[in-house]
Amino acid sequence: MAISAIIGGQWGDEGKGKVVDLLSSEVDVVARYQGGANAGHTVYKDNQKIVLHQIPSGVMRDDCKCLLGNGMVIDPIELVEEFENVKSKGLTINNIFISMNAHITSPIHKLIDVNSEKKSNNKIGTTGKGIGPTYVDKYNRKGIRSCDLLDNENLKSKIEKQTNRALSSHQISTDDLNSIKNELDMFFKACNTISKHITDIMPILHGSDNLLIEGAQGTLLDIDHGTYPFVTSSNPSSGGITTGLGLPLNKIDRLIGIFKAYTTRVGNGPFPTELFDEDGEKLQNIGKEFGATTGRPRRCGWFDAPLAKYSIMINGFNEITMTKLDILDEFEEIKVCTEYECNGEKSKNLSTFINQFDNITPIYKSVPGWKCSTVGINSFDDLPEKAKEYICYIEEILHTPIKHISTGPKRNDMIIR
Ligand code: GDP
Ligand code: IMO
Ligand code: MG
Repeated sequence: MAISAIIGGQWGDEGKGKVVDLLSSEVDVVARYQGGANAGHTVYKDNQKIVLHQIPSGVMRDDCKCLLGNGMVIDPIELVEEFENVKSKGLTINNIFISMNAHITSPIHKLIDVNSEKKSNNKIGTTGKGIGPTYVDKYNRKGIRSCDLLDNENLKSKIEKQTNRALSSHQISTDDLNSIKNELDMFFKACNTISKHITDIMPILHGSDNLLIEGAQGTLLDIDHGTYPFVTSSNPSSGGITTGLGLPLNKIDRLIGIFKAYTTRVGNGPFPTELFDEDGEKLQNIGKEFGATTGRPRRCGWFDAPLAKYSIMINGFNEITMTKLDILDEFEEIKVCTEYECNGEKSKNLSTFINQFDNITPIYKSVPGWKCSTVGINSFDDLPEKAKEYICYIEEILHTPIKHISTGPKRNDMIIR
């Protein structure tokens, strides 16, 4: 059994979906281990764009089983919408299996999420998908799991208790509750629809010959290792795989970190290499940097090497896939952050400053741009010399091989070295 994992190395949206879609030709199972409808993974079927939120990107292949692991939080209403969307693109949902122990996001959780963001003076900028409140219930041992969907009466009583808890703690009001009456009806219907996919996924997972694991979000959004509190409520880093799926640590053969050739972030929180100038706008426009789930503009900045090194250290990446190289095609000069300065102290280690991230000044090295198109190139030798130098320079600082380089959004816009 060979097991590989695709993990976001930065703040999410690195192009994980595209890489999973490409590599899934060689596997029989693709599994998600954390997160939920907050994710937005973009893939293409012929020329049709599909954004997947909860369904693993293996759905693009008819013969690939797709597992939604116990570490995920499942939103039944959104999952049914996704089922309809992928079916309308000619894909099958017959190979989608949900762990019995995955936790369920209800309309109440979404209300709590949105209300708490409205009230807060220190907004996280969540996706509003109810992710945090669902994980709160899980860790408070009050959660609803997918196995609870198999008994309607039990489910109704659990939702009632969840509603009463939210009302009595003033997280939602009776007006709020009235506003989601239809949604609650939809929720119970959706629970019924998805219940056919709920099963013991262990035999499929452990019986796979070739398993691909699909991370959501990214390492700097990790609840333990990210820029807390501006993080998500799960462990996107490789540590989350073992608990989020029930796979022993020693079984994972290949950990692939996905990094954009620059950096983006959506939502609030510190971002040392963020650009507020023309270069930032250029990255955003050329890179079409708008969130795949919420449509919000993504903040953009230069590649951050200390951040990438930290991510490699936390996850144990054996190799890197660099995406969106083509977005740098038009730049005269490209910068790479090689070091941080904070209160007069310099360090190449992000962990030194992780709790003072707002006060960091990045120290940059400039490298020349290549000023020609790399779109769709799929051989390293065909890249312009300066693009090769950029990749080799980053590889050298990170001490980790960049084995795949993505040069466009489509499945085959990829250099395999
Ligand atoms: P994910 O959440 O990590 O799966 O990434 P998203 O789908 O949220 O965001 C990545 C965006 O970049 C999507 O619109 C992809 O189609 C696009 N993309 C991925 N790789 C490349 C690439 O190499 N070049 C270009 N131009 N676009 C890419
Ligand atoms: P994929 O899988 C980028 C961000 C939100 C917010 C923070 C917390 O597509 O890479 P949450 O709704 O999770 O409580 O929001 O995390 N966020 C993402 N940013 N890509 C994602 O997923 C994200 N999922 C959550 O913007 O800052
Ligand atoms: Mg995304």
